[in-house]
Amino acid sequence: MRKQMLFWFNEAFGYTDAVQVFFSPGRFNILGEHLDYNGGHVLPGAMELGTYIAAAARSDTLLNIRSRQMQDACMVDLTKPLPAEKGWWRYVAGAVVTICQQARKFQGLDLLLHSTLPIGAGLSSSASVTAGTAYATAYFLQLHPSCAELAVWSKRAENEFAGVPCGYLDPFAICCARRGYALLLNCSSLHYRYIPVHMHAYAFIIVDSGTRRTLAEAPFKQRAEECAHAKRMLRRLLPIEELADVTPHQFYSVAHWMVDEVAYRRARHVVGENARVLTAAESLNDATAHRLARLMHASHVSLRDYYEVSTPQLELLVAMTRTVPGCLATRISGAGFGGCVLSLIRRSAYAHFIDVVSEKYRKACGFDAAFYPADFSDGVRLLTAGE
Ligand code: GLA
Repeated sequence: MRKQMLFWFNEAFGYTDAVQVFFSPGRFNILGEHLDYNGGHVLPGAMELGTYIAAAARSDTLLNIRSRQMQDACMVDLTKPLPAEKGWWRYVAGAVVTICQQARKFQGLDLLLHSTLPIGAGLSSSASVTAGTAYATAYFLQLHPSCAELAVWSKRAENEFAGVPCGYLDPFAICCARRGYALLLNCSSLHYRYIPVHMHAYAFIIVDSGTRRTLAEAPFKQRAEECAHAKRMLRRLLPIEELADVTPHQFYSVAHWMVDEVAYRRARHVVGENARVLTAAESLNDATAHRLARLMHASHVSLRDYYEVSTPQLELLVAMTRTVPGCLATRISGAGFGGCVLSLIRRSAYAHFIDVVSEKYRKACGFDAAFYPADFSDGVRLLTAGE
C-alpha cells in the first residue's frame, strides 16, 4: 500500500522525494459504549482498515490537502484563521493546527488521504483521519509525543475544529492500540492497560447495517447533555466526580430519588455498562467466551432500552445474527443511531455467518450489509518500505 500511496501522491503533487506514508486504523469497541464522556471504562481494539496518509513537508506555511474519496481539494495558510466553512478537510487542518500549536511552529504540508473505512459507519473514520494527520504532523515537526499525548491532542482537534463532541475512546484506540491486545482505558484518569486477547476458537466480526448517522447530529449531543444532567442529580446524593463513578450498589440505593425518568435511564446504562466492561476485560479468552457473550447481550439491551440509541435496522441485524448457528452475541458498536453491530462468533462459522446474514438482511430490508474483521491490530504508525 505504501507504494500505491506514493504513486497517487505523485499524481496529485508531482513529486515523491521525502514523502512518507502513515497508516491510522479505524476502531471497534468490545464493550463500554457512551462511557468515555461519562468518565468510565472502554475496551476497544484497532482494525486493519483505516486511513492511509502520504505526506511531505513544504518550505512554507501552506497546507495542501487532497483525498482520494473526496472531490474538493483544499489549501489553507496555517498562519491565518481557518475558513469558517464546514467540510471534511477541517479534521485534517484542525489536527495540523493543533500539533503546530504544540510545536510553536507552522509547518506547511502536502497531504494525500486514502480511506479504506466506510465513512460515518461508527468505525471512527473521522478520528482515524484526525489522529493520522496529527501523527504525521508530529513526525515532520520532530515532536515525539507518547501515544496518550497524541490521543489527547487529536481529541482536542476534533472537538475544537470539527465541532464533534467525541470523547477519548476513538483517539486512544487509534493512537495506542497494539496487535493482539485490547486496550482497557479509564476515561477519567486516562490510565490504560493492554489486555491480551486469547480467543482462537472465537472471533469478532463487524456488520455494517448500511445506514448512517453523523456525530455532530443532535441525538449524540443530547445524550451527553442528559448524562450531564443525571450527574448533577446524583452528585447531590453521592460523593462522585463522574457519572461512571457510581457503583451499581450506590445507584440502586438512590435510584428512587431520581424523579427524572430520562436521567434515570441514561444513568442506569452508564452504571451497568461500566461494571460490564471490567468483567469483559477478564473474559477475552476461549474459556470465558460465553460469559463475554452474556455481557455483550446485556450491553445491547441497555443501549436499546436505557440509552435508546438503537434503530429498526440495527435491531433487525441483532435479531437475525442471533439465529445463525455459531453466533454467540451481537450488540450495537459505536454510538448507535445507525452504523454497525459487533458479533462474537465461532471462528469456524465465519463464512457461513456472512452468507446467511447478507442474504437475510437484503431480503428483509433491501439494504446491503457489509462485513469487516474486528481483529486487534496496531495503532497509528509510519509505514516502512514493503508495507
Ligand atoms: C462515538 C464517539 C465516542 C464514543 C462512542 C460511543 O464513537 O466518538 O467518543 O462516545 O460514540 O461509545
